[in-house]
Amino acid sequence: MKTDSLYQKLINGNKKYAMEKRFDDPEYFKTLSLGQKPDYLWIGCSDSRVPANEVTGTQSGEIFVHRNIANVVIHTDFNVMSVLDYAVNVLKVKHIIVCGHYGCGGVRAALTNNMYGFVDSWLRHIKDVYHLHQSELNAIMDEDKRADRLTELNVIEQVRNLAQTKIVQNAWHNKQALQLHAWVYGLNNGLITELKHILDNTADIDSIYRYEF
Ligand code: CO
Repeated sequence: MKTDSLYQKLINGNKKYAMEKRFDDPEYFKTLSLGQKPDYLWIGCSDSRVPANEVTGTQSGEIFVHRNIANVVIHTDFNVMSVLDYAVNVLKVKHIIVCGHYGCGGVRAALTNNMYGFVDSWLRHIKDVYHLHQSELNAIMDEDKRADRLTELNVIEQVRNLAQTKIVQNAWHNKQALQLHAWVYGLNNGLITELKHILDNTADIDSIYRYEF
């Protein structure tokens, strides 16, 4: 497809989308424009094949979304922490889902010694997860299987990172209903695997990371 028609495809797609939604429900956009009250925060990979709403069968307004390369939660990242703060303290979401996916390019890149440019600093966080679980990962001979396991461990570590934040612990302290979930999405079958749930700050969080309120 030519560059112009590639672009036009989106504008046309949008017109069709807006028309169909209005056809199904004339009040659809009016209702949405009144405000959002999503119950979920999704932290996923930027990969174009893992769109939060589509893979969970949800609609606009249902999921608050943050995506970055390889779904990483870093406590010094203003972006993810702002999203988390708003989701927990203003929207009061009930569930935070970190969703990785098998076949993640970011995870695979982190497993190599190649230089990819600016993204290397970002992928360093995945290398740190590898380093934490080195013995388990090195025992896996098959490269794809090793990358898949790192994908799982990465999601679990990112959920742990969430549980270590003051934002999440403060919510638990205030008896706010908030559950953290580690998911991996399968590109080859479209299915989500649930790996781990963290329900409060007594679960699997090293005491050094627990704040006193
Ligand atoms: Co990815």
